[in-house]
Amino acid sequence: MREESPLLYNEELDCWSVFSYEMVKRVVENKDYFSSATGVKKEQSLSRSMITMDPPLHTKIRSIVNRAFTPRVMKAWEPRIHEITNELIAKMEGKREIDFIEEFAGPLPVIVIAEMLGIQSTNMKKFKEWSHIIFSTPVDNSDEEVRIWKEAKLKAEAELEEFFNEIIADKRKNPGDNDIISILVKANEVGEKLSGEYIVPFCNLLLAAGNETTTSLIGNSIYTFAEQPEIYRSLQSNPLLVSHAVEESLRFRSPVQVMRRIVKKDLEFYGQQLKEGQLVFFFLGAANRDERVFENPEIFDLNRSNKRDHMAFGGGIHFCLGAPLARLEANIAISSLLKKYSAYEFPLTFELDPIPNSGVGYGLNSLN
Ligand code: HEM
Repeated sequence: MREESPLLYNEELDCWSVFSYEMVKRVVENKDYFSSATGVKKEQSLSRSMITMDPPLHTKIRSIVNRAFTPRVMKAWEPRIHEITNELIAKMEGKREIDFIEEFAGPLPVIVIAEMLGIQSTNMKKFKEWSHIIFSTPVDNSDEEVRIWKEAKLKAEAELEEFFNEIIADKRKNPGDNDIISILVKANEVGEKLSGEYIVPFCNLLLAAGNETTTSLIGNSIYTFAEQPEIYRSLQSNPLLVSHAVEESLRFRSPVQVMRRIVKKDLEFYGQQLKEGQLVFFFLGAANRDERVFENPEIFDLNRSNKRDHMAFGGGIHFCLGAPLARLEANIAISSLLKKYSAYEFPLTFELDPIPNSGVGYGLNSLN
């Protein structure tokens, strides 16, 4: 597809698909022609979240929420992420059969983000469910399926909204130092207005955008090591390569395969006329395997020289806000597993399910 039709028009749906690295980069970096306001309905809380906004509102909100993901805040959370990781590893110990996704890669990002949002561990299960529903896509496109899916999604968003409103009220009274809601509530106090109207959708977005994706990153990495044990052995003899492995995993099996924009005004794009209002789907996974940018893209190469140039986190003004957190969690998770499982024991511990390919995300449902 990338070779033959890097820019493909679908007549039936009147939309475009973009597959090459260069074109995808152009789309994500050109906010003046490609809008993120892609028609999420007003009543859905994600419609008020930054991922579906354009400047100037996006710029204002991003400048405030950025401070919840600074290197200083990440550093402050590092010891706790180590602890949570070790607790999860300890729970797996001695078990003969484990589903690695259910027991480790799934809970890790949920617990971390919940704690960062200041949420108690007692609500964790409900939390994972909400996140799962909000990020889901309908099983098929039949009217009945879409109706059921929409209802479930709206219900999950409403429940989560109520839940967050209570936490926001509490944090206004008793703010903490490094939890995200306290940081945002304090931003309010110093005059940079970010009303509750935007805080709740932002928290929803963190769950929807951050959990499944990070689970996929960790799960896809382990899947790759089990498939190619020599990578695992290299990491064991040189743990400094773990960060390379995380970047290569993001490129090689990108957790978010496709995102979309809407054409804001007519433009000529690589010889084609794109019309205002048309949807443009851009395929990050395809861009990350573009041989014009990555030599031997089908090979998982720990020593790739342009590791961080992949587009797994998107680009331009919507570049993933949680990228530092996702990287930190994946680095800690893999380093801790390396310490725990020897090179020979580890890949044999898990039997693999094939990777199911859903619409947007790319990851494992289970790994046991
Ligand atoms: C945006 C991928 C983890 C929060 C994005 C975008 C991508 C992405 C591709 C750009 C969307 C667009 O251009 O429309 C990923 C991947 C992750 C990950 C692959 C894990 C491996 C996280 C985490 C969080 C997070 C852990 C936070 C807890 C966000 C937010 C945005 C975003 C808030 C919107 C930024 C904006 O609109 O300015 N992510 N993400 N992500 N991500 Fe992530």
